[in-house]
Amino acid sequence: MSKRTFRVWRGADEGTLTEYEVEVNEGEVVLDILHRLQATQTPDLAVRWNCKAGKCGSCSVEINGRPRLSCMTRMSVFEDDEVVTVTPMRTFPVIRDLVCDVSYNYQKAREIPSFTPDPATSPGDFRMQQVDVERSQEFRKCIECFLCNNVCHVIRDHEENKEHFSGPRFLMRVAELEMHPEDTADRRRIADEEFGMGYCNITKCCTEVCPENIHITDNALIPLKERVADRKYDPLVWLGSKIGRR
Ligand code: SF4
Ligand code: F3S
Ligand code: FES
Repeated sequence: MSKRTFRVWRGADEGTLTEYEVEVNEGEVVLDILHRLQATQTPDLAVRWNCKAGKCGSCSVEINGRPRLSCMTRMSVFEDDEVVTVTPMRTFPVIRDLVCDVSYNYQKAREIPSFTPDPATSPGDFRMQQVDVERSQEFRKCIECFLCNNVCHVIRDHEENKEHFSGPRFLMRVAELEMHPEDTADRRRIADEEFGMGYCNITKCCTEVCPENIHITDNALIPLKERVADRKYDPLVWLGSKIGRR
């Protein structure tokens, strides 16, 4: 057992960092320490969590400035004398302490047109190639922790972009559906015009923080960008759009 210094955000958007000296035991994670603070020093500390197993995506925070799951961040990753600072995700409004209002993400999820299979295909008729199954499975590992949306500079530093940009989590969903062999909807126009594909300049910060190690940028965003560009610069599409405007 040792004592460690924790600095924790208290309050809402106008809050402050409050310092605590707290017991830490071998094998503990940051969420354990937050629970100990609730149990021993500050029972009104607001923390969101659920599974404590890296699978529900609820406990996202920033620890020493890095977006992380608090239940998967072992105390042993810090130096013995390192102060551990825990703050809420910066991209979303703070409700209280470490709990954010992440409704932006649910709003963006609702805007994505759902899976659209060919109505002429009966259940059981269609057989997917293994490569298509594996592509979808990678994206389906997402636990909706929203750390990727939190870290993306397009909305992290620019509140005004939220209306036009879905963030990597939902562009990945658009990409998944666009590349699904049985989905009949053409999602390239909406990816560009409604979900803000063009705002992504491939900084890959989203991929770096993903706790599920999903290759968001390489396997979803770049292929989607290529498809959007193919459509945009296809001479026949270009000609069609000119004729259509007359
Ligand atoms: Fe979290 Fe990764 Fe899903 Fe983004 S893609 S919400 S970082 S699990
Ligand atoms: Fe943002 Fe990821 Fe693109 S961090 S800019 S969505 S590569
Ligand atoms: Fe579920 Fe951390 S508590 S992911």
